[in-house]
Amino acid sequence: MVAIAILAAGRGTRMKSDLPKVLHQLGSRTLVQRVLDSCQILQPSRQFVIVGYRSELVQQALANPESFSGAIEFVEQTEQLGTGHAVQQLLPHLAGFSGDVLVLNGDVPLLRPQTLEQLMQIHQERRSAATILTAHLPNPKGYGRVFCDSQNQVKQIVEDRDCTDAQRQNHRINAGVYCFHWPALAKILPNLQANNDQQEYYLTDVVYHLDPVVAMDVEDYREISGINNRKQLAAAYQVLQEWVKDDWMATGVTLIDPDSNTIDDTVQLEPDVVIEPQTHLRGKTIIQSGSRIGPGTLIEDSQIGKNVTILYSVVSESAVADQTRVGPYAHVRGQTNVGSACRIGNFVELKKVQVGDLTNIAHLSYIGDATLGEKVNIGAGTITANYDGVQKHHTTIGDRSKTGSNSVLVAPLTIGEDVTIAAGSTITEDVADDCLAIARERQVTKPGWRLKFNS
Ligand code: UD1
Ligand code: CA
Repeated sequence: MVAIAILAAGRGTRMKSDLPKVLHQLGSRTLVQRVLDSCQILQPSRQFVIVGYRSELVQQALANPESFSGAIEFVEQTEQLGTGHAVQQLLPHLAGFSGDVLVLNGDVPLLRPQTLEQLMQIHQERRSAATILTAHLPNPKGYGRVFCDSQNQVKQIVEDRDCTDAQRQNHRINAGVYCFHWPALAKILPNLQANNDQQEYYLTDVVYHLDPVVAMDVEDYREISGINNRKQLAAAYQVLQEWVKDDWMATGVTLIDPDSNTIDDTVQLEPDVVIEPQTHLRGKTIIQSGSRIGPGTLIEDSQIGKNVTILYSVVSESAVADQTRVGPYAHVRGQTNVGSACRIGNFVELKKVQVGDLTNIAHLSYIGDATLGEKVNIGAGTITANYDGVQKHHTTIGDRSKTGSNSVLVAPLTIGEDVTIAAGSTITEDVADDCLAIARERQVTKPGWRLKFNS
């Protein structure tokens, strides 16, 4: 039986932020969400999050049940007196618990689930009182240093600020991830002292009271990067990006200039997708094979079909079906669904629109709150006037209908099938199937009329 406890009560002073540190975003997830997600592989029987600074915000942020299996128990640490003090808060909640507790700092967002599995395995095989995740860092500044005996048993952990110069030469650091046999830890937790530079109760001091305490090194030290300031947050993002891009390239995605792309680790790509330079893929975006995205494109929480091309455009919370061409300079948003083999063109904005297959909206249009059939042709400069100042209204256009250039379609409006709207019309009344609608002043041409100047 494994319980997990994530320490997330600190403010994170070094972030210089009102937001609790663990709520800063790394890609599309917060730091604490990432830590929580990485533990799910262990199927914990209980999940604690220790909260304190602006705890209501942390609780709210984790209330979204999408990504974790069980319920979270929030434990308040009203005063943040250190990581040891944070874990002491679990004592009443875990009274009588006889299993292991995995304790994780809430600011270690790049942990791989496999590493946690390995940590648990070593812990259980050795029947240790505690197993501590460690790493050898080229630049260990700011981390607690771990000192072991020849049996790899931890004898001491000294915070960077409490280290002597000689101790600072040790590059083996504490990752802030520990597995404890709870009954052993519970017994000695009350004995912690706050006699250190910060006058805090350090969780790391439990190594003086537990036996044996075993250290386990991670292979890739980058995965235990702790986030204490904005620079480390940016560095962690770089690491994450490198992993994500390497993975996609290995599965057959082409990134023409990977350094100029950002791809959230929540994005799904199929083989033979090509990502052009300066393109950013975010959230729950899925792109199917053969599609070519970019250059200069942002796609967020959207589904892109096969063999789609999207050029210099923004697509958010929308779907684009197979073979469709989007851009340059299109903005597709608000639950828009574009059918297959469509052409969504230059300087076109679509909001909450259903677009049938083989429909073209190729130039200079705003179409909002509308349903368009198949093989519709929206002429250049066509606008749906969907908002009367109070409410949004719907426009429906049937199959094979055409709007002339510079048409204004004043919603609510229904245009039937095979309709033609004359160029420059302002349409305020419904148009039945097969009609031509013209709604503009007739042209007046006066023959022989010419400005006559007095000279
Ligand atoms: C801690 C470790 C250090 C390790 C490093 C790894 C201690 C004493 N030091 O240092 O050895 O190398 O992490 O990243 O544990 N927190 C609480 N309540 C508190 C204090 C902190 O919940 O009273 C939480 C914070 O929100 C944070 C985590 O504990 O998520 C770690 O705290 P932080 O102040 O970042 O510890 P470090 O100084 O980085
Ligand atoms: Ca930290």
